[in-house]
Amino acid sequence: MSGSSPGSSVRSKASVLVLGSGAREHALGLALSPHTLTFLPGNEGTRALGRNIPGDPTDVPLVLRIAAEIKPDLVIVGPEAPLCAGVVDALRAAGVVAFGPTQDCARLEGSKAFMKEFCKRHGVPTAGFRVFDDAEQAKAYIRAEDRALVVKADGLCAGKGVVVAHDAEEALAAVESMMVARAFGAAGARVVIEDVLPGEEASYHVLVSRGDVLALAPAQDHKRALDGDRGPNTGGMGAYAPAPIVTPDVRERVTKEIVEPVVRGLREDGLDFRGVLFVGLMIEEGVPRVLEFNVRFGDPETSVVLPLIDGDVYELLTAVANGTLGNATAGTREGSCVTVVIAAEGYPGSPAKGDEIKGLEKKLPEGGYVLHAGTARGGEGGDAIVTAGGRVLAVGARAPTFAEARTRAYEVVECIQFRGMHFRKDIGYRALKS
Ligand code: AMP
Ligand code: GLY
Repeated sequence: MSGSSPGSSVRSKASVLVLGSGAREHALGLALSPHTLTFLPGNEGTRALGRNIPGDPTDVPLVLRIAAEIKPDLVIVGPEAPLCAGVVDALRAAGVVAFGPTQDCARLEGSKAFMKEFCKRHGVPTAGFRVFDDAEQAKAYIRAEDRALVVKADGLCAGKGVVVAHDAEEALAAVESMMVARAFGAAGARVVIEDVLPGEEASYHVLVSRGDVLALAPAQDHKRALDGDRGPNTGGMGAYAPAPIVTPDVRERVTKEIVEPVVRGLREDGLDFRGVLFVGLMIEEGVPRVLEFNVRFGDPETSVVLPLIDGDVYELLTAVANGTLGNATAGTREGSCVTVVIAAEGYPGSPAKGDEIKGLEKKLPEGGYVLHAGTARGGEGGDAIVTAGGRVLAVGARAPTFAEARTRAYEVVECIQFRGMHFRKDIGYRALKS
C-alpha cells in the first residue's frame, strides 16, 4: 500500500466512527487521526481527537442512528460485545463499511464451545476438551479425571469466565459457581473443560479479510495484577511488541499450523470474517497452540501493535472491511513498543473512582504516549480529569530498541500521579531476559 509520498496531494479527510471506550479505542484514534473521528462513547482521551457521543455501543439501533446521521466512511468496532450483538451485520445491511466480524464469525470469541469445535473440525492445535450442559456430568468427569483442568464458561464474561484449576476440588468449585450459582448468568449454562497447556503466552493479531491475511507484530501482555505474574487476573497490566518468544520459526509454524487452517476452515464453514483475529497462543518449546480466539484487537496490545504498522492504518482497515486486503501491502516497522497500565486502587476488585489525575500536561519523552481508559471529567470545578474505572491509563513509548522503549515507558509513568495508583514495574521482563 502506498503511503502519502512527498509531493502527493494530501488525501481528503475520511469520517470514522469508533465504537468502544478503552485505551484500545484511544490507540485506534491516534492511529487514525488526522481523519474526522467520532467515538461511541469514547473517553476523556478520545475527546481530544474528535467527538464523543454518549451511549452504549451494543445498542445496535443507536449505532445505526448515529451512522445514518454522520455517514461514516468506516466504522471500527473495538470490543467484542457489539460484535456478538450483531452490530456489523446491521451496519453492512445498511450499506455502511464496517471493520469487524459479523455475529456468526464472532462466535469464535463469544462461545468457547464453538471455538473448540471449530479447531477440532479444522485441525487447529488447541488443548483437548469436553463440553458440558449438565453440572452433574461435568462434576462426574472432573472426579474421574482427578487432575488439574481448565474450566471455562461458554459465553462472554468480560475476561472473568476462566478458572485454571490446580486440582479436582478447584475445578468442582468452578463448575458449581458457573453452572449452578450462575455467577456469569446464562454465559455459564454450558462449560468447556480443557486440559492445561504448559508454556508461555503470546498475543498474535492477524488481519483477516475473506481469504487474505496480514499478521501484525507479535505481542505479549501481562494478565496478573502483581510483579512476577502473581496476584489476581486482570484485563491486562501492560504489553510489549515485538515479543521475542515468537521467533521467526514459531511465526512460520503459527502461519502454517494455525492461521492457514483457520482461514481455510472459515471458508469451508461459509464464514466471511473481515476484521482482526487475535490468536491467544501458548508456546511450549517452540510449539504453538491456540488458547483462545478474540475477534477484536487486544487491550492493551493495540497500543503496542498499531504503532508498529508500516502503512496507512485507515486504508488497511478499510481494505479489510471491504474484502480487498489482497491488494494492500503493509509491513512492520523497526523498533519496539512498551505499554504500562496504570490502575486504580482496588483494581481488579472494586476500583476507587473520582481521584484527580495529575501530570497529564507534562512533556513526554520522545515516542511517548498516554492513552486514556477509565477517565472522566470531574473534581471540584468539574473540569479536572479523574479516575472512572479500573484500568485508568495505558502509557508507554515506541523506541528503536526494546530497552529504550521500556525505559521511556516508565519515564511516562513517572509523569502521572493520582491517589492509590498502581502499576507493574516488570513489564517486558521476559523480553529483557532473552
Ligand atoms: P482465555 O480467556 O481462554 O484466554 O483464558 C484466560 C487465561 O487463562 C489465558 O490467558 C491463560 O492464561 C489461561 N488459560 C486458558 N486456557 C488455558 C489452558 N488450556 N491451559 C493453560 N492456561 C489456560
Ligand atoms: N489483553 C487481552 C485482551 O484484550 O483480551
